[in-house]
Amino acid sequence: MSAADAVTDSLQSLRDRFVGVREGRPADYIPQLALADPDAFGLALVSMDGHRYVAGEAEVPFTLQSVSKPFVYALALSLLGLDEVSRWVGAEPSGEAFNAISLEPGTGRPANAMVNAGAIVTTALIPDTPDDPAFDRILRCLGCFAGRELDVDEEVFSSESVTGDRNRALAYLIRSTGTMPVDPVLAVDRYFRQCAIRVTAVDLATMAATLAYGGVNPVTRERVVSAEVAARVLAVMATCGMYDGSGDWLLRVGLPAKSGVSGGLIAVGPARFGVATYSPPLDATGGSVRGHAALEAMSDRYGLHLM
Ligand code: DON
Repeated sequence: MSAADAVTDSLQSLRDRFVGVREGRPADYIPQLALADPDAFGLALVSMDGHRYVAGEAEVPFTLQSVSKPFVYALALSLLGLDEVSRWVGAEPSGEAFNAISLEPGTGRPANAMVNAGAIVTTALIPDTPDDPAFDRILRCLGCFAGRELDVDEEVFSSESVTGDRNRALAYLIRSTGTMPVDPVLAVDRYFRQCAIRVTAVDLATMAATLAYGGVNPVTRERVVSAEVAARVLAVMATCGMYDGSGDWLLRVGLPAKSGVSGGLIAVGPARFGVATYSPPLDATGGSVRGHAALEAMSDRYGLHLM
């Protein structure tokens, strides 16, 4: 069997092993996400030579949700630099849920850019000019990570807009401490739109592989962000990407990762691969149950733990 067939085979066997898991439920606090097929389970891996390996529902579209956060953080770091971004958002694990109130005593900064509060501020930092609106920059940048033009699922966007009062409250709380760069309603609207960007597991694996490859998309060969920015993003994903499950994830899987409530999950093997899974039923931390199980098994089987 060729090396490529062996990778495809191992993704397929992970799918076969975990597709029957019945724990967890798709998110329903964003009503449109509750309509997802709970049986869908796709896996994709992109290697540093740009080869894409897939199993199951790897081409089924879903929305990025929180998997958007590391990539918008990368854009903010690229445009503004670490010192400026760090004036607004920290880089410490919060040990709390993704939607917790997060205001550092003294500075009022959210703990990190992976929790909602920090992600809303990060999105608000993206420059917004008449000839290059902030959301266009975000969509374009995430498209470069994915290696194709992406679009927004307007139904998911509206669904979160009408139910997203907690995120609006977080944004107002942050402004009350003086650390919100733009109007809270505007910031949250842009953040909801970024969360509603449509991708597939193959796109996610390509985005993860771009971080793995030092900021160069291994499929298109385009440099998307600097190697320094990619490394910084991986550091924050490793410590904060799985929220209050980050320590346990690093202990068991040992790879920088990011989950999203639509069921997407990415993990990065620096200089080796980007991997992604899609399966909507979630655990208590808002991560995909099957995705978590499959990536833990994959890390064990191939000794991928970085530590
Ligand atoms: O802001 C929210 O609640 C969603 N748009 C995204 C949250 C999310 O994906 C948390 N991750 N597991």
